[in-house]
Amino acid sequence: MAEYDVIILNGLVVTDTEMGDYDIAIKDEKIAKVVARGDLKDAKAKKMIDAEGGYVMPGGVDGHVHLQEPPLFGKGSSADNYETGSRSAVCGGTTCMVTFAPQKKSEDTLLDTLHATHEKAKNNCYIDYSFHLLVGNPSERALSEFKTLREEGITSLKIYMTYEALKLDDGQILDVLLEARKQKITTMVHAENGEVIDWMTKQLEKRKLFAPKYHGTSHAPIAENEATFRVIQLSEFMDSPILIVHVSTPEAAAHIKSAQDRGIPIYAETCPQYLFLTKTDLDKPGFEGAKCVCSPPPRESEADCDIIWDGLANGTFTILSSDHCPFRYNDNVNGKKTCINDEYPNGHFKYIPNGIAGIETRLSLALGANRLDLKKFVELTSANPARLYGLYPLKGAFVEGKSDADLNIWYPPNTMQEFSLMNEMLHHNVDYTPFEGRTLKQWPRYTLLRGKVVWDRENGGLLGEKGYGKFVKREASSLAKPRNHGEWEIYEDGSFGFS
Ligand SMILES: *[C@@H]1O[C@H](CO)[C@@H](O)[C@H](O)[C@H]1NC(C)=O
Repeated sequence: MAEYDVIILNGLVVTDTEMGDYDIAIKDEKIAKVVARGDLKDAKAKKMIDAEGGYVMPGGVDGHVHLQEPPLFGKGSSADNYETGSRSAVCGGTTCMVTFAPQKKSEDTLLDTLHATHEKAKNNCYIDYSFHLLVGNPSERALSEFKTLREEGITSLKIYMTYEALKLDDGQILDVLLEARKQKITTMVHAENGEVIDWMTKQLEKRKLFAPKYHGTSHAPIAENEATFRVIQLSEFMDSPILIVHVSTPEAAAHIKSAQDRGIPIYAETCPQYLFLTKTDLDKPGFEGAKCVCSPPPRESEADCDIIWDGLANGTFTILSSDHCPFRYNDNVNGKKTCINDEYPNGHFKYIPNGIAGIETRLSLALGANRLDLKKFVELTSANPARLYGLYPLKGAFVEGKSDADLNIWYPPNTMQEFSLMNEMLHHNVDYTPFEGRTLKQWPRYTLLRGKVVWDRENGGLLGEKGYGKFVKREASSLAKPRNHGEWEIYEDGSFGFS
């Protein structure tokens, strides 16, 4: 009888801490052995895979994914549901995702939101998943439910500093940070100053400037820089760790770096759109620019992108996520073209649904750019999202007996024929990709999820099945922790802080 379920031979194994010639054995969905190349030559397995010298890396963990959310602002609804979004993910090497369970401002409770989101995902996913609670209304009841969220394996939530339908004021942010700190929950923050954006929007409207590129103008860098700085201060005051999502400007990155250098528990995320897209992509002829409308917007120039790349390499950024938030382009019912009507025959930037698809292209774009050290690539796209969101070493690692056998086998270095990315290669339910035409030098050749081959690029492509992906209960973050362990209090003499 075979000792193992799968053996992977001749891989160049890369984790965030190690790189070398190892063979891997898998049993009962777990990584069973990682041994020097050749040491498994007498072992038996039901399936043998020859990696032919290709990288073998832990499967991608995407910590920022929007699927099947009700339209929270304006028109337009997500083009991908749990089935199509997770299908797209697995075909690009992502084996675990954390999506959002969005609470509306009009709702009082978070638990109903959580249960409703479970219903959407159940039996529909190709990959393993969990949820971040998106807190639209931090009511007393909602705050009192954080404890139950923890018991249900939810250890992170997200808040917004902009968007009328979701925006929290500074007092509400403090409420959330304090309760999150008590329950060891990590708070993710969309940091943009909504009032600055509204003011800029009015100025543009007065001048009848409606083209997609003005989305970029209205979301001025200072809106992000100011909100980033402000929420760092609020986090420091509460000593409650935060992760600032989708950072796009050099100044915001510098605020984050400076807080980290002072020892404040500030973590940061960026996304491929801030590495590969610029204002030029918003300024395509006609309405085309709408294809790249997301918030924050792609920034001014490649020089900005270079600084974000530097931040990935130098540790300012903890994770690289997709912020997959897909809308169809040629769609005037749910997609980008909902903003075209009699009043605005060429559309209006303010009403373009915000978001772009990217769950399938995140890993290949970032790896193929050859700008990150390989271990750093694994850290940013797999190990750190797992650590940050309480999934490590179940995900993001190859720890014998502990890690799920989730992995990608890539093509041996410099053997893959370069190709141009085309939307028709992708598996989402979107009619375009903002990265159309980019040259790619890598793509996962095989992807395994808990020991099962779910993607085989040359033999059938998608082999995984809907419903194989399961909900994963998460622990508290193993990265994000407060510095003080006392209680935040106001003392009788009027001073405040941690006892
Ligand atoms: C690291 O990158 C950030 C920007 O992303 C930058 O502000 C900072 O100066 C860089 N630090 C070093 C030491 O290079």
